[in-house]
Amino acid sequence: MTTTLETTGTRTPVTVIGLGEMGTALAGAFLEGGHPTTVWNRTPERADALVAKGARRAATVRDAVAAGPLVVVNVKGNAVARELLESAGDALAGRAVVNLTDGTSAEVREVARWAEGQGAEYLHGQIMTIAPAIGHPDSVVFYGGASTVYDRLHPALRLLGGRGSLIADDPGAPVLYGMAVHGVMWGTLNGFLHAAALLSDEGIELGRFLESAGASVSALVSFLPSIADAVDRDDHAVEYGALKHHLPSLEDLVRESRARGIDDEFPAYTLDLVAKAIGEGHADDNYSRLIEHFARR
Ligand SMILES: NC(=O)c1ccc[n+]([C@@H]2O[C@H](COP(=O)([O-])OP(=O)(O)OC[C@H]3O[C@@H](n4cnc5c(N)ncnc54)[C@H](OP(=O)(O)O)[C@@H]3O)[C@@H](O)[C@H]2O)c1
Repeated sequence: MTTTLETTGTRTPVTVIGLGEMGTALAGAFLEGGHPTTVWNRTPERADALVAKGARRAATVRDAVAAGPLVVVNVKGNAVARELLESAGDALAGRAVVNLTDGTSAEVREVARWAEGQGAEYLHGQIMTIAPAIGHPDSVVFYGGASTVYDRLHPALRLLGGRGSLIADDPGAPVLYGMAVHGVMWGTLNGFLHAAALLSDEGIELGRFLESAGASVSALVSFLPSIADAVDRDDHAVEYGALKHHLPSLEDLVRESRARGIDDEFPAYTLDLVAKAIGEGHADDNYSRLIEHFARR
């Protein structure tokens, strides 16, 4: 079923369900963009500031969903998102639901299947920024769902972040992109904090370190496309920088950490992976060979 996006003036009426830190920012962006905005939150007072700026407060989820063709959901967990949407009953049919609630790919796909079964269109979005950055031209939101729906909703959705994009027709894909980015972030942050412990133990300020070594650290990102290509092609041959060359540096890092009484778990974990791969005959392979460890079930 195709939702008709009736408009008030030129702006699509938008409903926002969930006014936590993020939902409040989302509703604020739609209001600021001139969209008639209806809001609902379990704790109704959290809507007060938005109502003062012109939002309409709905008494029930059903009323909120009935208020307009575009329904944005942003709550804590997809079980809650689904439960709230269920309470809208047949008001959901013909609506376009954009669920921006974080979860696993299976949870998200389940909500998508259910909502589409109720006659709604469905996009899932993964917000890649914090609430104060909603609406910023550089803010990223990954969307998954039908391109026809995304294209139609784009004039409203672009208000949430200038670098929003449709990455797949699968509503489960955006959360995987989000997890992948976060996984890289945590690995990087843990590596940096381990380095920070090492440098601080020596009395070296991190700012001073970054003045000299910041460019070397930033350049590490430039390795990713070649690693990605090797993993995609499942071809781990490499001319320079083979796994065997990582081993001595890792051993030094672990020995230095131990000698200083600094936690060595993070580099020791990496050392184990590299030593094991070398033991399995991959000494001359690209670092990408370690995918075989991570992909193990
Ligand atoms: N905050 C961020 O910077 C950020 C960034 C990226 C993604 N996100 C994602 O955005 C979503 C919302 O995050 P948030 O930071 O806005 O969380 P939050 O401030 O804790 O707000 C949670 C929202 O969920 C509602 N809620 C929780 N349990 C409920 C229930 N059983 N029934 C009805 N409503 C319920 C809350 O209603 P009440 O007000 O009544 O408690 C509130 O509206 C999450 O999926 C989060 O991972 C947030």
